[in-house]
Amino acid sequence: MGTSEAVLQAFSGAVPRPFCSEPYFSKLDIASPSRSFVRFGKRRGLRCRQFHNPSKSLQSGIGIRQFARKSASESLRVLRCKCQHAESASGLTAEDGKGTWFVDNAQKFNPIHDMVNGPNVLEFEEVEELKAEKVGLLSDVNLPAVGTVNNAIHKTSVTSVEDEAWEMLRESMVHYCGSPIGTIAANDPTSSSVLNYDQVFIRDFIPSGIAFLLKGEYEIVRNFILYTLQLQSWEKTMDCHSPGQGLMPASFKVRTVPLDGDDSATEEVLDPDFGEAAIGRVAPVDSGLWWIILLRAYGKCSGDLTVQERIDVQTGIKMILKLCLADGFDMFPTLLVADGPCMIDRRMGLHGHPLEIQALFYSALLCSREMLTPEDGSADIIRALNNRLVALSFHIREYYWIDMKKLNEIYRYKTEEYSYDAVNKFNIYPDQIPPWLVEWMPNKGGYLIGNLQPAHMDFRFFSLGNLWSVVSSLVTEDQSHAILDLIEAKWADLVADMPFKICYPALEGQEWQIITGSDPKNTPWSYHNGGSWPTLLWQLTIACIKMNRPEIATRAVEIAEKRISQDKWPEYYDTKRGRFIGKQSRLYQTWSIAGYLVAKLLLADPTAARMLITEEDSELVNAFSCMTSANPRRKRGPKSSQQTYIV
Ligand code: GLC
Repeated sequence: MGTSEAVLQAFSGAVPRPFCSEPYFSKLDIASPSRSFVRFGKRRGLRCRQFHNPSKSLQSGIGIRQFARKSASESLRVLRCKCQHAESASGLTAEDGKGTWFVDNAQKFNPIHDMVNGPNVLEFEEVEELKAEKVGLLSDVNLPAVGTVNNAIHKTSVTSVEDEAWEMLRESMVHYCGSPIGTIAANDPTSSSVLNYDQVFIRDFIPSGIAFLLKGEYEIVRNFILYTLQLQSWEKTMDCHSPGQGLMPASFKVRTVPLDGDDSATEEVLDPDFGEAAIGRVAPVDSGLWWIILLRAYGKCSGDLTVQERIDVQTGIKMILKLCLADGFDMFPTLLVADGPCMIDRRMGLHGHPLEIQALFYSALLCSREMLTPEDGSADIIRALNNRLVALSFHIREYYWIDMKKLNEIYRYKTEEYSYDAVNKFNIYPDQIPPWLVEWMPNKGGYLIGNLQPAHMDFRFFSLGNLWSVVSSLVTEDQSHAILDLIEAKWADLVADMPFKICYPALEGQEWQIITGSDPKNTPWSYHNGGSWPTLLWQLTIACIKMNRPEIATRAVEIAEKRISQDKWPEYYDTKRGRFIGKQSRLYQTWSIAGYLVAKLLLADPTAARMLITEEDSELVNAFSCMTSANPRRKRGPKSSQQTYIV
């Protein structure tokens, strides 16, 4: 049986979802239930809807808490919480029918904790107690102590910037049934059109979540992880087509809606968007990858490993992996995606194999490898994952890497080579080397290009992809240093007046017209097209800490600190040097606030960055060398390049 076949088999059949898996329920006393769960839908797992009908409770004198599926497709789109009557719920109702489970063990009705906690999950207080233990998880790291700001006056104002940031981060918190579950994308009172900035974006929440973890506030992160997991496999369609199972939403919103058939009551509803309502209908490939990365960070920071060990969470990880590891038409180990699949979620010429997705994919694979519990059902997926890790790192290190030496090689490439031994495997025409790059490439330093396709290299520097390749060890140690060398050498272009440029350079003129479709929001040096995004500070900081060069991040933070608060925490800045607040930039953008806070907190305690860093372990290095020596095709490649990457 082939790996992918086996992987598919591992996922076929009923997928147990939270609250409802057999092992979970087998531990419960079904004789005296005070909670009931209704199971529905076999193949696509459970869509659970919290449903508490107070009138029925009052009539019968007993409380109902039930997870039920409505038949209409509309009703599948939301996770509901009729929480306004939560306190009155107790007792028993047996809502029977095929696939109904009756569950009991709730002594006290707590809508959120009951909903997101399995019986084996630690209560919040217990998690808090683990804080003391977490030190052990993070303290074994030999990372540099970072100096604090010397100037006392500066320190005071900086502290007040931090205080303000915390205040605003807390104000951005979104609650569901009374518990925090995420942060709103922007809290801009001056903006006339909200669009979807009032939603909780998965990618935007990551720095918020990390900031809360660093503060020891674990509950919001745990809730976020478990609720978004609930949204993962919901049936969503666009023009009668549903995305692959395992896709995580780009964002979700808590809506308060009138209760069906009861005018006097309302219910809270979690409504996810998988891209079917998003501008441009972009599918969020990065959401699931970020979710996995945050899950690992949560476990490492809080010491609470019970969340990642839960069956529903394990299933969630596998579903994301299954989607990413599925066979397709592609010959490359990189993930093939449409345009706008990540932080850059508009047409910007990213379609194909964009670096950001590959770096997050690699990182998520490593994190999953650490978290997947070894059991019969995961052997195949772990094998597939290991193979992919090795192939992916080889591919990126070898073919995405560019520096003066490599650029000169490309400049002298022969083309139209038909053979297994081709040096110019992707048939890159040297004329593709853009004039700006000839000038721009420093003598010391290098970076990963933005995308690689047949006969096409996207030479733009994309910051997040490069930074996360360092953080995740997708690139070698030498390459990691070279990326930081380049950042230092090109400071005036990448940082200038506000860190950090999302990509360099901007698309201009005809290129802008063709590649963005004349997007007026992505004009040169604005927004995704060479705009400067303060949120990138946190990824920069982790990369610098990992490479023992925190002073680079400190410098960038100091630049941001000079104006970010006065400027009201913009989403992005415009112009080549990042001098103006972005034309359409939101103010009080949460991930600008959280990104700054995470950078500050990590610079003050660099060892904490460990929760996000992944090292290349010896097992992987061995597998890498076995693979390159065992694969006859690889042997045909140029010898020097193979040796370079067996580290
Ligand atoms: C913009 C950004 C995207 C972000 C969203 C919410 O669409 O491009 O990355 O997630 O705003 O802040």
